[in-house]
Parts: sequence; C-alpha cells; structure tokens
Amino acid sequence: LEKSQLAPHPRLAPPPGPVVLLVMDGVGEGRHDAYDAVSVARTPALDSLRSDAAYRTILAHGPYVGLPSETDMGNSEVGHNTLGAGRIFDQGAKRIDIAVDSGAIWTGTWQEIIAQVTQRGTALHLIGLLSDGNVHSNMTHLAALIGKARDKGVHRLFVHALHDGRDVPDRTAEKYVAEVEQELGAAAQATGGTYRIASGGGRMVTTMDRYEADWRIVERGWQAHVLGAARPFASATEAIEQLRKETPGISDQLLSPYTIVDEDGRPVGAIQDGDCVVFFNFRGDRAIELSWAFTAGADFAGFDRQRVPDVLFAGMTLYDGDTDMPKLRLVEPEPVPDTISELLARTGVTQWAGAETQKFGHVTYFWNGNRSEKFDPATETYFEIPSDQVPFNERPWMKSAETADAIIEAIHSGRFRFIRANFPGGDMVGHTGVFEAAVVAMESVDLAIDRIDRAVKAARGTLVVTADHGNAEDMIERDKQGEPVFLADGTPRWKTAHSTNPIPLIIADYADRDVTFRDDVPKGGLANVASTLIELLGYEAPVEYEPTLLDS
Ligand code: 3PG
Ligand code: CO
Repeated sequence: LEKSQLAPHPRLAPPPGPVVLLVMDGVGEGRHDAYDAVSVARTPALDSLRSDAAYRTILAHGPYVGLPSETDMGNSEVGHNTLGAGRIFDQGAKRIDIAVDSGAIWTGTWQEIIAQVTQRGTALHLIGLLSDGNVHSNMTHLAALIGKARDKGVHRLFVHALHDGRDVPDRTAEKYVAEVEQELGAAAQATGGTYRIASGGGRMVTTMDRYEADWRIVERGWQAHVLGAARPFASATEAIEQLRKETPGISDQLLSPYTIVDEDGRPVGAIQDGDCVVFFNFRGDRAIELSWAFTAGADFAGFDRQRVPDVLFAGMTLYDGDTDMPKLRLVEPEPVPDTISELLARTGVTQWAGAETQKFGHVTYFWNGNRSEKFDPATETYFEIPSDQVPFNERPWMKSAETADAIIEAIHSGRFRFIRANFPGGDMVGHTGVFEAAVVAMESVDLAIDRIDRAVKAARGTLVVTADHGNAEDMIERDKQGEPVFLADGTPRWKTAHSTNPIPLIIADYADRDVTFRDDVPKGGLANVASTLIELLGYEAPVEYEPTLLDS
C-alpha cells in the first residue's frame, strides 16, 4: 500500500462520537436450539440491536480467514488477524502444510538441528499439542517431523505431549497418544534408536498459558518436560488411564502433568545440555511463554527454572514479531503489513484497544498483524484488565463488567475516535463445555453491550458488534448429518471446540448517517470489516483491502 494517509470519504462524515467495535469472542449464529447458549441466554440488548440496527451475518471460518478448507473452524488468532488486516492471508496451518509439501521446512533451521543431534549424539525433543484441530498444531506436522528424523538417522527422539480436548472433541487424548506411539514405535524399529513419549499433560494446566495469565501453568510444564520431575508413570497411556480413574469425566485439557520414567524411576527423556528442542505448535499466543523460558537469560522472571539446559531451541514458526521470538524457526511466517491500525495511526486517528488478559493480545498483537508494539504511542492506548485465574465456568461473567467500565470511560474521555475491545465470555466459557455457564457468560456480555450502547448513543458515535468465530452457539457434538450426539446415559456430549458457523455483524449508527448494508457481497467475511470500519470513521477504504459491506 502507498504510505500515505487515508482520504476523506465522499459521503460519510466522521461521526461526532467514536466508532466502537465490540468483538464477542466465540459467538456465532447457530440453530437456535436447546444447545445454542447464545439463543438460550436472555440477551435483550443484542435482540433489539439485531432488529433495530443494521444487521447481517458474515463468514469467519476456513478460506474466509486463510485456513485450508471449508471444514476448518475459525479461531481467534486468524479471526483477529483477518479483522485487522482487511485482507485474507495464508494462516498458520496452511503455511506449514505448504512448507511440508514443498520440502521448504527441511532446510535451514531443521538442518542445523539434525547436524547437532547426529554429530553430538544428543536427543531431539518435540514439544506440542497432540491435536488435529489445526488451531495451535496438527498431528500431520508432528508425524512429518518424526518421519524425517527417522530418515536422517536420529537416534534419540522424545515427544512431550500436550493434550487438547479444546480444539477437538473432548476425551480423545488417548486416541492421539496411540497414533504417536505407533509412529514412534515404527521409527524406533527402523533406526534401532529410542523414540518415546517422555512427558505430557493437559494444555490448560501444562505449558500452554498465554499473555502471562498464569505462569504456574508453564512452570508445571517445565518440571514435566525439562526437569523430568512431574508425577511419574510408565507410559502416557497409563498416565491418562490413571488420571481418568481418579477424576471421572476429567477434560483432556485439565489432565495433570506427568513424566515418563524407567523401572528405576528415572525420567526417560528429561532435557539435557546439547539437546535440540522443537516446539511444533505454530500458533504464537500459547507458545510464547515456554519459548521465553528456554531462551531467556538470568533475568527471566516467569518462575524458578531450577536448571536451564543449554539447548538449540526452535519454534515451528515465529511466535512474536516484535521480539523476533524464537530466533530459530522451521517455517517463516507471511508478514501482514498495512493493518487498519497502522493506516489509522498514520492518518492521526486516535485509537483505544482493550480486553481482559485472556484476549488482550488478540485485540492488540493479532489485530496488528502479529506485533505487540504500537504503531504510534502518541495516539494509541492499550488497556488490559487482569483475568481471573480459575476455570471460567466458575466465573462465567469473567471481566465483562470491568471491560464495559473501561470502554465507557474511554468514550467519556472524548480522546478516542476508534475504540475496539474483546469480550471473551462466549469463547472461554464455551471451551469448558458447561452449557449453563455459557448461558451466563452470554447474559453478562449482553449487559455490558447494553451499557456501552447507551454511552455510544449519548456520544453520537457508531456501535459495531461482531465476533471472531463461533463457539457458544453450538455446544453439542454432532454426527456427520449434523444430529446432536448423546452419551449412553442420555446426557449431551458437550462440545468444547469452535464452530464453522457464520457470525453476526451489527452496526448501530447514532450520528444521523444513512448506514445500510449492500446486498452484493453475500459471502462477506471478517476480511470485509476493516474497510467497513474505515468508512464509518469517515475515510475511503484502500483499494487493496477486501471491499466494504456498506451501501455506497
Ligand atoms: C485456545 O487457545 O483457547 C483455543 O485453542 C482457541 O481459542 P481462541 O482461538 O478462541 O483463542
Ligand atoms: Co476459542
């Protein structure tokens, strides 16, 4: 894009008040049935906005957010990337797929790793999420790494397995473990070497914290993977079996961390000096903290690491563009330049972005094309509200009220022309699979929206309400025909993952402007929102962006 300022819009003047964008995380348009927490919830504010303001649905999954196929559910990384970019970029899963297909992944960093482990006779450790959710990781990428290491004659390889149950159906951990065990067994046979799972744990209690919400999670992972000091078991299968016995119905994401030990109780694959470590997750948010722990010096403040092995550490890809972290990665990301916030900063439009910890990086880092620094500190304000450190079904209202307080204060200050925020309730509570809690989450988000709507109206601004992907509106597992699935005892098999449903887009303009949706972009998606926002702010959208959804 040309490095100039945005031009004034020929028809739409800037509103007297701010344009306020609310992203309801994990809130799609569902079937309005008994498993749709969004429609079961009492949401008078959303209901009246849907009927009185401009309302349509947009697409937020698969190719509409840069993912490989129509069956790929959206997620918050690609959703916020696409919202902020105004264009569709190849995303995580797809980029890695391409690099594996072309073989580009086996150059550079990978060669360095193979050279080190084969020349020094050290071990290769693969840490990551056993999942085919395609959100943080994919089993096919792990299989490719194991297969290539085998072909290269790597003699000792250890998988440190994180269990999902969040981007895939819950209670499937043992299925993924069995798959990996089989690949490892075959590779061990082919090489005469040691290929084993060395440690593991559920992702929400082991390793995969994000935005520094709770470092204890990473500390537990460090103890399991690196120090070999978590609860000992003879195999991952045995660990999961036992943990399920102790807590019937436990969700995969909450399985406590474990270390695999030999007959003498010694960890089989603790991480030692000279080893190489590949974190095979491709998504950044939940990969950053462990990467810090491996690469930071003595000033590391996350937790007491006790022992820091001198290893070659690589990520599947870049996790943080600002800090260039990690330094070594198997696949380079596609840069996302000229995001909406960069264009607005260049034009001098003042901006406020805020959310509670769990999604703070989504409205800043992901929104800005994977950078956490501001484009112009003089005109941009970021605001983070600390999240609770509990399973969110226990506090389903999360920080909806506090987030609304902060937004309303930002509106009242009169200092900001563009305000954006995220409400995580639908998503974070949706991921717990506790239906009643998801209903409460939606009701608390609705209360917040009602208060913000009044403030925007009083300021004569424009309220835009949308989402990033579906989740809470579809809380039950479904069979191939789309029919709900029940357990043997007749209770619903609750779904913890996102959906592929379309999401709402609501625009309530309180600046006496004629704002209606055009009808010639039926497949409009998240990528069309940026142009729409730029127009609402009173500027012409760049031609390089996906088109506006407003009538001209
Ligand atoms: C998570 O990281 O919590 C889930 O895997 C994806 O959730 P998000 O894409 O909504 O953040
Ligand atoms: Co989610």
